[in-house]
Amino acid sequence: MRWPKGLDGLCYGGDYNPEQWPEEVWREDVALMREAGVNLVSVGVFSWARLEPVEGSYDFGWLDRVLDLLHEGGVRVDLATPTASPPPWFSLAHPDALTVTADGARLSHGSRDTYCVSAPAYREASARIARVLAERYRDHPVLAMWHVHNEYGTWCHCDHVAAAFRTWLRGRHGTLEALNDAWTTSFWSQYYSAWEQIMPPRATQYLPNPAQVLDFRRFLSDEMLGHFREQKAILRELTPDVPVTTNFVFGDWVPVDQWKWAQEVDLVAIDHYPSENPPEETAFAADLARGWAGGRPWLLMEQAVVTYTGPRMVAKRPGEITRLSLSHVARGSRGAMFFQWRASRGGAELWHGGMVPHAGPDSRIFREIRDLGNLLPALAEACRDPVEAPAAILWDTEAGWALQSPGFPSTGIGYLEAVRQAHRVLYRHGVTADFVHPSADLSGYELVIVPSLYLISEDAADNLRRYADGGHGTLVVSFLSGIADEHARIRVGGYPGALRGVLGVRVEEFLPIGEPVTLDTGDTASLWTERVHLAGAEALARYPDGTPAVTRHGRAVYVSTRLSDDAYARLLGLGSPAPVELVRRGEWLFAINHGGGERKIPGNLLLPPGGYAVAKVPRPG
Ligand code: GAL
Repeated sequence: MRWPKGLDGLCYGGDYNPEQWPEEVWREDVALMREAGVNLVSVGVFSWARLEPVEGSYDFGWLDRVLDLLHEGGVRVDLATPTASPPPWFSLAHPDALTVTADGARLSHGSRDTYCVSAPAYREASARIARVLAERYRDHPVLAMWHVHNEYGTWCHCDHVAAAFRTWLRGRHGTLEALNDAWTTSFWSQYYSAWEQIMPPRATQYLPNPAQVLDFRRFLSDEMLGHFREQKAILRELTPDVPVTTNFVFGDWVPVDQWKWAQEVDLVAIDHYPSENPPEETAFAADLARGWAGGRPWLLMEQAVVTYTGPRMVAKRPGEITRLSLSHVARGSRGAMFFQWRASRGGAELWHGGMVPHAGPDSRIFREIRDLGNLLPALAEACRDPVEAPAAILWDTEAGWALQSPGFPSTGIGYLEAVRQAHRVLYRHGVTADFVHPSADLSGYELVIVPSLYLISEDAADNLRRYADGGHGTLVVSFLSGIADEHARIRVGGYPGALRGVLGVRVEEFLPIGEPVTLDTGDTASLWTERVHLAGAEALARYPDGTPAVTRHGRAVYVSTRLSDDAYARLLGLGSPAPVELVRRGEWLFAINHGGGERKIPGNLLLPPGGYAVAKVPRPG
């Protein structure tokens, strides 16, 4: 990990888009940033058209003045390469570099992210603007970090993509025969007799080939990573000591395998916009980011002062900005950043809010932003020790992608739902969880949860076996795990495929259900049931027809249905719910009361409604 140059403590700030405002406002911006304790801003994220208004002709004057002003004000800069939004002139000059949707529509400029990452003209233009920027600002003392692009995640299905996909497939499968075998093209007459016949998964008559779709996502992830690496190489060459990052976006549509990307960035950075249950979603996102960062510090690059809840976007409630920022920091973020500094008066995101809202600095939001900026420096000491997590949840992006294929026995299953339930149950009981890769060393955890890990390699299955057989802790595997190989082909002979041995069960049939059923333990089971045969395991709970629903084999537990949260917590032996959000880091305890009542926390402290404490609290016992 490399930390932004010139910053030791926690980062505080956000996206700063000064090109929307006259220069008088910039001076007020810097004064307000100082007042709010802002020490880092991301500049130039969408500035390509202002930096290069005409192809090959640059206007850096405004950015020079912005960077100088920020430097004088003591605010450091996370300088972006603006490649997430090419200018209109670029699209007109290179229409072949515009995105093509799966059903063949070529999109037009007018929004952002409308480019094809495989188009040679786009790759060249991206490298050029990154080089020009780095040459100009390599010695500027304000430069703390590079922010390459923004939220990689764009899909395209054009002919450039088709050609690049074929090259990638040759690298992955070697021969056409191997590809035909991996994709099971013998079904539905899909056999390919030449590489040129292979297409991206464009719109087609009925169900697409799941292995093709899965490989396409893997390809898109690698292809975008190639774009990132090209820019990173240029930035490294010109500014070897300036860290390079990009901001990961959440969403199950995003074709980015964060495990791979995390190896390439100097600092894992995420954007997070919770909706229905902000505290739980925040803890989930922050724990995931810490997992991707391999337990090292990471950075919350963007959050908002507003929350989207279904049809509404509302300002965060009093104190909520601080509580959610604290939750990120407690879970390993070395700071709290926002989109964006000053709310826009026009453009597509004019209602999105800002650290300085439309009302200006005389506002509740700005006062809270200022208070948070004054609080953060005091927390640096509490962030020295690592976050302590007795439990691990396996996370595998590819398994999640594979579970999104249409044609499953139930339309109700979802990888994210399964993972989030495991996390939520632990979170509500005050148990911090790490997210880990299926091949990670698990031996230090008391509990390892494997939610719906549909794709699994033999190596990962061995890793789980070693964990359970080694007596390190309890392994809890839920339905739809172990089923398929890396090409999304079923491991035949009985489910759960690669995990039959360690779990001591053999599942003969899947029996998805509409109405919930009651197990002999009194617990409720919904969505999914299975015909489970014991093959060494014992039954812990049974379906109404007497067949096993939850089993145990040594220290390996199998859950063949979706349990209610309460039943899940009982199965994990979690006891009573935690009074507030709790995270321990060495001697320090972070306690955040997201609720409306006064709560007693360890150390005999009382937290008022909405209150928080970061204190040295001895461990119980
Ligand atoms: C993020 C994005 C920002 C801004 C923000 C608010 O996903 O990176 O540029 O659009 O969402 O919608």
